[in-house]
Amino acid sequence: MAIQRTFSIIKPDATKRNLTGKIAAKFEDAGLRIVASKRIQMTLAQAQQFYGVHSERPFFGELCEFMISEPIVVQVLEGEDAIAKNREVMGATNPADAADGTIRKEFALSIGENSVHGSDAPETAAEEIAFFFSGLELVG
Ligand code: PPS
Repeated sequence: MAIQRTFSIIKPDATKRNLTGKIAAKFEDAGLRIVASKRIQMTLAQAQQFYGVHSERPFFGELCEFMISEPIVVQVLEGEDAIAKNREVMGATNPADAADGTIRKEFALSIGENSVHGSDAPETAAEEIAFFFSGLELVG
């Protein structure tokens, strides 16, 4: 499997509880390199655009309000099979279903306040990276 890049968000519930370093360590321990990282706070318009694919879902408003409630840390992770590896380290969306040792099992509070977001496919990874980062900010 080739070296891939994926996009990650450390979500408001995690930044609020000062868990950025502990979550970043989970990525690094899994062999993922953090090749770009910044702490930002999204506007409502940005959150609605980023999560546009979910706009018809009943939790869309709640999800967007949550994602702008505190700063987030957006990152690009690089490594072999990075997209699948990151999703493995994150664990299931609902922490009640997440495997032992995963970020969501250890840190997430609920299906909404679930500490991390990670791209689910190469196309979405490329789109999500480009949404937050310019080429100049990616240092492999
Ligand atoms: S997945 O993994 O994309 O298939 O998960 P999915 O169930 O489709 O959820 C997509 C994102 O919506 C968030 N979510 C919710 N937020 C608030 N309330 C409820 N009930 C809820 N259910 C799902 C979930 O955390 C996913 O966020 P991201 O950032 O994409 O991981």
